[in-house]
Amino acid sequence: MAENEKSVITGVIPKLVHCFLSGSLKFTLTPAEINELSWIGQEKLIKSTIHNPIFKKYPLRQDFCRLFIKKIIQYLEPYQEIHDDIFEFLCTQMKSKFDKDNLFYRHTIVNNDISNIITIKETNNMVVNGTTGMKTWEAAIILSDWILGNKELFHNKKVLELGSGVGFTGITLGKFCTPKSVMMTDCHIDVLKVLIENIAINFPKFEKKETSQCTCFRSEDKEIGVMMLDWNCIKDINDGQNPDIIIGADIVYDPSILQPLCNVLETFFKRNPNVQIYIASIIRNEETFSSFLNILGRINVAVEKHVPTECMYLKWDQEMPRCLLKINRN
Ligand SMILES: C[S@@+](CC[C@H](N)C(=O)[O-])C[C@H]1O[C@@H](n2cnc3c(N)ncnc32)[C@H](O)[C@@H]1O
Repeated sequence: MAENEKSVITGVIPKLVHCFLSGSLKFTLTPAEINELSWIGQEKLIKSTIHNPIFKKYPLRQDFCRLFIKKIIQYLEPYQEIHDDIFEFLCTQMKSKFDKDNLFYRHTIVNNDISNIITIKETNNMVVNGTTGMKTWEAAIILSDWILGNKELFHNKKVLELGSGVGFTGITLGKFCTPKSVMMTDCHIDVLKVLIENIAINFPKFEKKETSQCTCFRSEDKEIGVMMLDWNCIKDINDGQNPDIIIGADIVYDPSILQPLCNVLETFFKRNPNVQIYIASIIRNEETFSSFLNILGRINVAVEKHVPTECMYLKWDQEMPRCLLKINRN
């Protein structure tokens, strides 16, 4: 993300491009913004959204596209002539069938720079086949934003992610920072399959290798891996895994897995007492979160609580109660 390479655009177009690519309908348009969306303004919008090569290759959910375009038309129709391509696109979306497996793509622009995009295949559903891992959760974006603001901590480090889900955080770290390696893990086979697809999308030039332990994507100076790691089976944790840093987003939510999760942390502390752990959470249930802190209190660790306040490189929901835990061995 070198400053001189940034393709930052300003005004109503980037606002709508961001909403469209990230699958969000949370926007309103002011009269001045509607005015900006003249025929020429709409052409610019079309170029960066429905004619965007990324969108064409990795489409968003069709019902979202329909709603997004209808909302734009509703705003513009009383004041502007609607561009033909907008109507044409709406018609193609009306003819659509069901999205296969309810999976679609979402594109997140990093630091308002349209050349820095994370593409994630995921679902909107909170639980699919018994796992919460098929969608990107808010804590993943919060942790990623914090990582982007603290890149130096990760320079040349071996990072292991717990409960990676579809991979937003590990992919952000691997794509925009300089770790030596990122090992992304999860316990659900369907999640791991989508995670591997998402890595292939975001690191198209990396060479893919399968070993008995993991799927690895390598470049000259970086390695991104995917591995099955179930917190309930710590005996299975490969001896070769000795990370400098462990990260996890939205992994403190189910009371039944808090102790197994702590056992995993303890296992890695035994291997490397200097390992640094960063866990980001949305606090939906105070009791569950306190219970995790209590369990951590029983192992020999120092826990620092930090509440991220500002969106820096990524947009996330600032209304949600959140916390980033930094955990070190005492
Ligand atoms: C709420 S999702 C968070 C996913 C991702 N980190 C994010 O924030 O978008 C929780 C993740 O933890 C994983 N998980 C739950 N129990 C687990 C266990 N026992 N071992 C490993 N991963 C587990 C789930 O499969 C899921 O991917």
